[in-house]
Amino acid sequence: MLFAGSVKLQKTRTKVVPGEGAENADILFIGEAPGWHEDQQGRPFVGPAGQFLDSLLASINLKRQQVYIANVIKCRPPGNRDPLPIEIANCQKWLNRQIELLSPKIIVTLGRYSMARFFPGKSISNIHCTTQTQNGAIYFAMYHPAAALHQGNLRQTIEQDMLKLPSLLVQAKAEITKETTPKSEPQQQLNMF
Ligand code: URA
Repeated sequence: MLFAGSVKLQKTRTKVVPGEGAENADILFIGEAPGWHEDQQGRPFVGPAGQFLDSLLASINLKRQQVYIANVIKCRPPGNRDPLPIEIANCQKWLNRQIELLSPKIIVTLGRYSMARFFPGKSISNIHCTTQTQNGAIYFAMYHPAAALHQGNLRQTIEQDMLKLPSLLVQAKAEITKETTPKSEPQQQLNMF
């Protein structure tokens, strides 16, 4: 079924921006929607917010090629307006499939639209830098990198929040090991006779 929202974005977008990164990424970053630069190139986070995201990744010794970067919606809303609920609903199946295929250990929500999907009813100022575990993945809420470009005082907060990711990854890997390691068999009493 085709919805009005998807038809409209299809008409105004230049390129679809599905997302990109490592197929075996441990961490999936989910932003909001492509902006002008992303729409031109068909790649996520390649404009000013993306440059800040790259520097955040570098601060924890990661390159964008080692993670996966996607968005809640895959086509640019005209004039960079906020995504409409119908557009989010229309794109939901693509994001769901990406999560299913990647099966990341950590999902980082960037900004309120991405947060709303996994932390419904919460406010970013209250829950940034907090986690919840769901379906075997750790969800970590962060401000959108573009927030630092508009509100300079958030830059440091975002940088600090990013520094929590390496320890979360250690935690996620330890939890998976715990789940997959079989409990050791009870020791057999040695029979001497
Ligand atoms: N902002 C987003 O949310 N996603 C992008 O890909 C670029 C900017």
